Amino acid sequence: TRLQEELNKLVETADQDKQSSCKQELTSFAKLFDRFLRETGPSVDWSKIEKLPHEAVRDYNTLETPKKDNMRQMLDKLVVVKLNGGLGTSMGCHGPKSVIAVRSDLSFLDLTVQQIQHLNRTYEANVPLVLMNSFNTDEDTQKIIRKYEGLQVEIYTFNQSCYPRISKDTLLPVPTSCDVANNPDAWYPPGHGDFYESIKSSGLLDKLLSQGREYCFISNIDNLGATVDLNILNLLLNNPSGPPPEFVMEVTDKTKADVKGGTLIKYEDKLRLLEIAQVPKERVEDFKSVKTFKYFNTNNLWAKLDAIDRVLTEGSLNMEIIVNHKALKNNLNIIQLETAVGAAMKSFNGCLGINVPRSRFLPVKKTSDLFLVMSNLYTLNQGFLSMSHQRMFPTTPLVKLGDNHFSKVSEFLSRFANIPDILELDHLTVSGDVTFGRGVTLKGTVIIIANHGDRIDIPSGALLENKIVSGNLRI
Ligand code: UTP
Repeated sequence: TRLQEELNKLVETADQDKQSSCKQELTSFAKLFDRFLRETGPSVDWSKIEKLPHEAVRDYNTLETPKKDNMRQMLDKLVVVKLNGGLGTSMGCHGPKSVIAVRSDLSFLDLTVQQIQHLNRTYEANVPLVLMNSFNTDEDTQKIIRKYEGLQVEIYTFNQSCYPRISKDTLLPVPTSCDVANNPDAWYPPGHGDFYESIKSSGLLDKLLSQGREYCFISNIDNLGATVDLNILNLLLNNPSGPPPEFVMEVTDKTKADVKGGTLIKYEDKLRLLEIAQVPKERVEDFKSVKTFKYFNTNNLWAKLDAIDRVLTEGSLNMEIIVNHKALKNNLNIIQLETAVGAAMKSFNGCLGINVPRSRFLPVKKTSDLFLVMSNLYTLNQGFLSMSHQRMFPTTPLVKLGDNHFSKVSEFLSRFANIPDILELDHLTVSGDVTFGRGVTLKGTVIIIANHGDRIDIPSGALLENKIVSGNLRI
């Protein structure tokens, strides 16, 4: 086909030493693209979705805590994988998202390394950290991880695939050369579902298996609640009620704020992830129901390494394709085909959901999330963030910060002399040109709105409790 010819031409532009890896990658891409062309109908038949049976999701609180003496032996079988292919663009930052300072000048990466070092020290263990980088994040990440040399954490990295973006009109590749650095906009990392194939082709999967590692714990690097949980690891390694599960998805109770998150379903006798992108239009409201679909995917996943190897070797790994439409800087409309790591669940045997506490899902996607994790609502200990005991009720405040003045990290930081005391805050809305002095306390519901052309400076030491402050009106 024409696409294949163009891909062949691309391979020829690669340097001699990169030709075979480039060819392998573009062959995988061609397979994905071919599936995209063939699989035109919806990926689920709504009438075939079954109610989740009771035993499909285990309540975290029923898990046994392992004995301290067994811990080291268990940890020798674990690797921690952080998905580190993404950039910080949505929070207005350049470079990998994982290098953004989130608390006490420590980045997502710093906190992760601290957590694992603490684990290794406590149990005299040697749990390695594996980072899946992309061509967007690898160079910066390599520079940064040098500073962790000498710590009690072994770090491995591998790169996920780099696929060509496709013109929406012609369905042909955008790049004309394999020199990615020269034209990075023409390429993309194909989502975190790429993990399986990339860890295998890098050789790292075989290496970990030969070291006797059995399970990997995979999570988003921007989820500060995704720490190694020993009760879950114990369930995997010492399952009293049958063979070891090959794949575990940590889910948590869905609230009205999470209705867009992927959910767990039973389909054709297997557990699988259902994402909103797969749902037919007329079923979207059903999908959002917190009664019918009670849980959502935290993207904290545990997978058996030999099972990953098996599904890859058999060719039975199957993940739904997510079509992402974008416009490039030159206005060219493109599509990029992606997959999600949790979508692989249906390809494994003995799968299980675990309903974990909300505290294991603490993602930082926006500056309003950063506001919470930087504040006194959380305490930091050895890279672990936990909600302060001084908070009387365990819910997090609802925080909305205006897009125009707060969406970039640098701008957000410049508007707070320091982060206010929010131990007793329920709800905060800030919009417009607003700044906060030092030592401000916010309680109850606080709404601060500076109208266009106005500016509101909250003075140092102010206490705002159940207050509305607006450009020309102070209540
Ligand atoms: P996303 O940006 O996809 O987060 O990155 P999201 O919007 O919460 O969506 P989902 O539902 O989790 O997909 C999630 C994590 O995956 C990594 C990012 O670095 C982040 O840690 N990621 C994403 C990759 O490693 N590679 C990719 O191609 C995409």
